Amino acid sequence: MIVLGVNIDHVATLRNARGGRNPDPLLAADIVFTSGAGQIVCHLREDRRHILDQDLRNLLSWGKLPVNLEMALTPEMQDIAITNRPQLITLVPERRLERTTEGGLSLDHDLAGKIRDFHQLTSEKKIPLSLFLDPDIEMVKKGCDLGVEQIELHTGPYANAFLKKPDALELERLLECSLYIASRGIRLAMGHGLDTENLLPLLSIPNLAEVNIGHSIIARSVFIGLSSAISEIQEKLSR
Ligand code: PXP
Repeated sequence: MIVLGVNIDHVATLRNARGGRNPDPLLAADIVFTSGAGQIVCHLREDRRHILDQDLRNLLSWGKLPVNLEMALTPEMQDIAITNRPQLITLVPERRLERTTEGGLSLDHDLAGKIRDFHQLTSEKKIPLSLFLDPDIEMVKKGCDLGVEQIELHTGPYANAFLKKPDALELERLLECSLYIASRGIRLAMGHGLDTENLLPLLSIPNLAEVNIGHSIIARSVFIGLSSAISEIQEKLSR
């Protein structure tokens, strides 16, 4: 079965809006676990807009599910990752002003060299390394040449196109890259903008091993849970 990684960044975003402890990302992680998902995903950003360093430490010592740490390849993040040893590291590009990760890594000569160096460190620590890449076959070939353990294809453009109608071209790009990744014996993940609708066509991709989903799950949970949260207060008021 395809592993579901649940990104809990937006639980931390909500917590950070007020400071304090609520909602606690660790409690969210427990619900992810009891709901049967296979992995926690979190992105430790340079500006710490959602997950904080202590959240990462808490998740790793909680330990009920593997943690996929998304991070930019900066010296600070490399130190944090190597010290804390998550079960998977996903390298993503990061720009301060973006709302979310807006594209895949651009593997130029300089970045490829840095990834090779970091991969040596992660290999020594036995932490698998994943690269977040656009479904661009030339970029995917470069990524595979780096010898990493996993490639996560960016499904954002596919998801955006899907909003208008199921998009054969974007699906074709994902499929072409997926088959190439399979031919190189590298594990395949996908993520970004996925939801209950646009996920369905992806399920026919034979080597899809993992999907990482955050925003649509957290957004939906507000509406699934809002009524119960109101009823809890109403029940107190009626006493
Ligand atoms: N995968 C990666 C590499 C991401 O950067 C993100 C967003 O943080 C996701 C998956 C989840 O995307 P979404 O929140 O749109 O489901």
